[in-house]
Amino acid sequence: MKRRVGICTGGGDAPGLNAVIRAFVRDAVQQRGWEVVGIADSFNGLLEQPHRLIPLNPNATRGLVRRGGTILGTTNRGNPFSYTRANGEKVDVAPELAKAVKEERLEGLVCIGGDGTQAIALQLMREVGIPVVGVPKTIDNDLSATDYTFGFQTAVDIATDALDRLQTTAESHDRVLFLEVMGRDAGHIALEAGLAGGADIILVPEIPYDVERVAACIRDRAERGRRFSVVICAEGALPVDLAKGKSMEERWELLRDGGGAANIAMSSLRGRIQAEMRTCVLGHIQRGGAPCAFDRVLATRFGVAASRLVDEGRWGEMVRLRNGVVDGVPIEEAIATYKFVDPNGQLVSTARAIGVEFGG
Ligand code: F6P
Repeated sequence: MKRRVGICTGGGDAPGLNAVIRAFVRDAVQQRGWEVVGIADSFNGLLEQPHRLIPLNPNATRGLVRRGGTILGTTNRGNPFSYTRANGEKVDVAPELAKAVKEERLEGLVCIGGDGTQAIALQLMREVGIPVVGVPKTIDNDLSATDYTFGFQTAVDIATDALDRLQTTAESHDRVLFLEVMGRDAGHIALEAGLAGGADIILVPEIPYDVERVAACIRDRAERGRRFSVVICAEGALPVDLAKGKSMEERWELLRDGGGAANIAMSSLRGRIQAEMRTCVLGHIQRGGAPCAFDRVLATRFGVAASRLVDEGRWGEMVRLRNGVVDGVPIEEAIATYKFVDPNGQLVSTARAIGVEFGG
C-alpha cells in the first residue's frame, strides 16, 4: 500500500505557502511514489463531516511556485485543543482529529505555520499521537531556529517599494510621512525595508523611542534643507514613556486604542515639528500576491526537506535554514525562543552608521 501523508497550512498566510506545497508534492508523489492529501483550512478539514480533503499531485500543484496565498486555505482560529463549535462552545477536539487522521490512513501531517501552529503540532504529537513534521512560516521572520522564513523577503520588497513611492511625494510636499508595516513584537520588516528604502527614521518595538529625539532628527534635517522626512515604523513600535513596564499584551492594547503605531508616532510629534504629517498603513498588502524569487527558492527547499524528514521518520522535527543549509531541528527547540531585532546587532549599527535615527 502506498504511503499517505497529509499537509496543511495554519495561521496567517505568507507568500510562498503554495510553493512549499508544490515542492513537497513533487518530491513525495513524483520521486517517492506516496499519496499526498491537503487538509482544508488548517486542521478544520479533518474536524468536519464529511472531511474536506484535497488530493494533491504534480498536476494539481502546477504553477503554484508563483501563486500567493494558500490553495488549502488557512485560519488562525483552528486550534484543535480549543476548538469553537458552530454553537460557540469551546472544546478539545484533538482526540477527534487523531481519529480522523487514522480513518484517512494518514501516516502523519506536514504542518506549515508559524510558532503557534508549530506549538499545536507538537502538542498533537505528544498528547494524541499524531506524527507531525513542521515547516516554519511567518512574514515577520521572528523564529529563532531559522535564519529566514519565506514570505519575509517579499514583505520587505513590498515595504521597500512603498517607501520609494513615499519618498518622492514626501519631498514634493515637504511632508513627514509615516509608513506602518507589520511586526507586532519584532521589527525585522521595518528595519530591513527601512535600510533598503532609505528611511530617515526607523521605529521598532525592540527600541522604544524618545519622541523628542525623533523630533530633533526631523528638525535637523529641515535646517539642512531637507524639509521632508520618511519614517518607517513596525506596528508594535511605541514611545518609551508608553512602552515602559508594559507587557506585550498591554502594549498591544495601547496601540489598538491609539489607532496604531504610525498614528501614535504622528500624534506624539504634533507641536514639536513644523511639517505637515500623514500616515500610510501597509497592512495585508505585505502578505498578498506573488512571492519574490528568494522566497520561492526557500519555500521549494523547505518543501523538499519536509518530504525528506517524513521519509526518514523524523517526526517532531521542523525544517529550517541555518548558515545556508536546510536541515531539521526538533520543534520543541524551534519554538523555545523568539527572534527579536538585536538593538546592539550589526544591522542596527549599520543603520546608525549611515545616520538613521531610531529614537533610542
Ligand atoms: O504574524 C504575521 C502577521 O502578519 C503579523 O505581523 C501581524 O501582526 C499579524 O500577522 C496580522 O494578523 P491578522 O491577519 O490576523 O490581522
